[in-house]
Amino acid sequence: MGVQLDKSGKMSGFNELLLNGVSSCWKSPSNIALVKYWGKRGNQIPANASISITLSEAYTITKVKAKPAAKPGNGPEVLFWFEGEHNSLFSAKIENFLKDILPFMPFLDQVSLEIESGNNFPHSAGIASSASGMSALAVCLCSIENQLLQQPVDENEFKRKVSFISRIGSGSACRSVFGQYAVWGKHQDVEDSTDEYAVSLGFEPHDSMKNIHDTIFIVDPTAKKVSSRVGHNLMNGHVFAEARYEQAKMNMSQILKAIRTGDWDLFAAITENEALSLHAMMMSSSPGYVLMHPNSLIIIDKIINFRKQTGAKLCFTLDAGPNIHLLYPHQEMAILRPLVSELKDFCYNNSVIEDMMGSGPAKLNCR
Ligand code: PMV
Repeated sequence: MGVQLDKSGKMSGFNELLLNGVSSCWKSPSNIALVKYWGKRGNQIPANASISITLSEAYTITKVKAKPAAKPGNGPEVLFWFEGEHNSLFSAKIENFLKDILPFMPFLDQVSLEIESGNNFPHSAGIASSASGMSALAVCLCSIENQLLQQPVDENEFKRKVSFISRIGSGSACRSVFGQYAVWGKHQDVEDSTDEYAVSLGFEPHDSMKNIHDTIFIVDPTAKKVSSRVGHNLMNGHVFAEARYEQAKMNMSQILKAIRTGDWDLFAAITENEALSLHAMMMSSSPGYVLMHPNSLIIIDKIINFRKQTGAKLCFTLDAGPNIHLLYPHQEMAILRPLVSELKDFCYNNSVIEDMMGSGPAKLNCR
């Protein structure tokens, strides 16, 4: 049978392919931002450009099966299982997401979807799962769209669409689609950068910046005190908002320079400045939120002292929560072992996740 979607993605009838069910299964990783995205406008358009490291050990595996819809044209029909169970909160989020992306994937109106998803990290680890979860779902949906289109796929074009669709689900998710470093948001120093989707750096990082480790200290595994949605909204009307966006713009230029030249001190200074600025924005918003835990501060202090005493290359960053990410180049691993074991004592149940830079989503052969 021929192509069943017209150029706009509308389905003109069901082909045999769809009648038998079309499926796709991918794993997609989380990422940690160096220059933070905090503040947005319109349909998930970032207030400033951001850059992240794509991780490899914290990921979501998602499998999507598409069949002809029972009532085509009534919006996407979906059945969703998270880690083997129906989850009504997640299902509602997925249904909203599918409605939001319908204008960009009109075939969704014609299909019924069975989605199974799960993380390889415990949800109680305090690790943001929206980046891995949304990018895993987006890559499955784009891959199903391509199977139905039965047309050759340009890999770069495919990644751009996956990143674009991921962004609508969760802004930071659009960066997980690219390996190593990903930039999202228009910035003068990154050619082709755009607010619509993430892109790769566009230059070769310095050798010492190609294999960064991220040891994550789980200080508090409970859910975030403030959702990202509420957090981003607090930037609207924030007294420091404009200064923050200007700071992020300058920090982007600096960190790109550090990655290009292998200047660890600059990389560390900017990464830590960004982490503390993100928390400063939360503390000084109205209402204000303290997202760190007393142990977060103890760990930060010990990281800074260790660097002063040993001259080792390491730095910290945080998401909008209390857990500390310790970043360092691969060659520093051995020297940091004593510090890592000492810092475990300040974690919930000594929980630590050993992660590192990864290469982005991977296609799987799921049953
Ligand atoms: O993608 P969201 O809407 O969950 O926002 C993520 C915001 C931070 O994680 C705090 C920073 C970032 O750039 O990832």
